[in-house]
This record gives sequence, structure tokens and C-alpha cells, in this order.
Amino acid sequence: MVIFLCKVCGHIEFQAPPETCPACGADRSNFKQNDNIFEESMEKSKEGAVKHIPSVQVVHKCGLIPEESCTDILVRIGETLHPMEEKHFIQFIDCYVDDKYVSRIQLTPDTWASVVFHIKNPGKVVSIVEQCNLHGHWIAQAEM
Ligand SMILES: [Fe+2]
Repeated sequence: MVIFLCKVCGHIEFQAPPETCPACGADRSNFKQNDNIFEESMEKSKEGAVKHIPSVQVVHKCGLIPEESCTDILVRIGETLHPMEEKHFIQFIDCYVDDKYVSRIQLTPDTWASVVFHIKNPGKVVSIVEQCNLHGHWIAQAEM
């Protein structure tokens, strides 16, 4: 996996760095390549994997938008619910369809680390990336 990290906001792009960060607007010079970012998080806190790896569910019939074609991506962090406290929380959850970034949901300690993405055009694979303020980046993928 070829991975570029935005040093400003933690957003990840696959394959190539963008002209500007689609999440925070920082320019290309702020992107640094780190293909091992997910392995590094895993190495640093192996026992934390169960709290950080996103649980991803794909639902093909959307209850909220029945009048249009909509694929729901239900996400919770993680199998054991990650804490959401001032000193330790999930900062954002980013969603990608076939490696193309489509959405970010920013979180605060006043929310649970659980979100839904409503996708207009499904692809083959959805990737969910989350950033914990203490334990870094984690990813999970599911077939759409
Ligand atoms: Fe954490």
C-alpha cells in the first residue's frame, strides 16, 4: 500500500499526494510518504487492536434515503468500544471507495466513535481509516 500522510491534519491519501489536502486544505508539501503507518500503530499497541480496528458493516438498503440508490457504511471503533474522553479519543473517521477519499466525520469526546456514511456510488471496496489521538492510524476494509 502506498500511503501519504498529511502532517497538518492526519488525513491519508493512497497512491499519490493530492495538490491540496481534501480534509484540511494544506498544500502538497505537507504530505509525507509512510507506507507502514498502519503497521506502526499495530506494533506500538498490539493489545489495543481490538479497541482501534474499525468494525465495518455494508448495508445496501438505506432507511434514511429510500428514494435514491444509497449504500450505507456503518462504522464503530472498535469491536471493544474505544473510549471517548478528553485525553484519549478518536479524532476522525475517513471513508474511501476504491482508494478514493469520499468523506470525513470529525469527532469529539462528546460523541461515541460510531458513524454512518451514505455512499451514492459504491465501488468494490470501502476503506475506513480512523485516527486515535494517542494510538495513531488504523484501517479496515470491506467489500461493497
Ligand atoms: Fe486509542
